[in-house]
Amino acid sequence: MDFLSVADLGGEGLAEVLATAAAVKAEPGKAAGRLTGRKVGLFFEKPSTRTRVSCEVAAADVGAVPLVLKQDEVGLGKRESVADVARTLDRYLDVLCFRVFRHRDLVTVAEHAAAPVINLLSDLEHPCQALADLQTLAESRPLPGAVLAFLGDGNNVCHSLLLAGAMRGVSLRVASPPGFEPSDEVVARARALAAPGAEISIGHDPAEAVRGADAVYTDVWASMGQEAEAAERRRLFEPFRVDERLFALAGPQAIFLHCLPAHRGDEVTDGVADHERSRIFDQAENRMHAFKAILLHVAG
Ligand code: CP
Ligand code: NVA
Repeated sequence: MDFLSVADLGGEGLAEVLATAAAVKAEPGKAAGRLTGRKVGLFFEKPSTRTRVSCEVAAADVGAVPLVLKQDEVGLGKRESVADVARTLDRYLDVLCFRVFRHRDLVTVAEHAAAPVINLLSDLEHPCQALADLQTLAESRPLPGAVLAFLGDGNNVCHSLLLAGAMRGVSLRVASPPGFEPSDEVVARARALAAPGAEISIGHDPAEAVRGADAVYTDVWASMGQEAEAAERRRLFEPFRVDERLFALAGPQAIFLHCLPAHRGDEVTDGVADHERSRIFDQAENRMHAFKAILLHVAG
């Protein structure tokens, strides 16, 4: 199977992958050698720290051979068509993992490769991130019934979180500046896939979203490729900064989450990023466990 959207797993598949991720974290030797000799390609059209390293390490830990490829050498859609890159890599590799600007390119790769394709972030979704996010939330409280507030841009990270959260019974409250809401299609899909009790609200009031929540999540205001909009976005997103005052409105045990990299001082203050209830580096660690789990799921 391909993993382009977190919804591709279905509710049961998602629960299974999260359980595997928790199991391999608890017992790191558990997955050793399970994918011995498989070749896992990791292609990046944009920069990466966590994804590149966590996936490379995770692949090696399960016995697979990771191969990192960068856009400056492959020239996806420039040196060669996306379809031909996919057809070629499919002859060498057992799993194709791609970080791309256009989600459409990922779909093209999946259409032209027989090997499973994993989305390492596109303009539409960041499904591997959502696995780590839910794994981290589940370490602080049971997922069904949890309430997560997402502040800021209704972007790729927000989309995958909406879908994955809803599927696992987590209620999501998104607060964005007008014009920066998550896509209507993704919201409708998340509502359609929601487990009983999971509610989704999309609004513009950060305090209302955060009040009493079990987790507060934010991401950069300008994603990779949107750097030219950074100044204008900074002006519009200012009221959505997660600072100590806003975080204090969340539940007494609430955790803070961020996919990283963070632009400290913009979407989050140091006081919240370094708060005793911040779990941002657990989240970063969980990317590695979650990637092992998804690799075993698609290729095991
Ligand atoms: N969270 C995340 O995907 O980080 P990188 O961009 O560093 O991979
Ligand atoms: N929304 C961010 C996430 C980075 C991990 C981006 O796309 O740049």
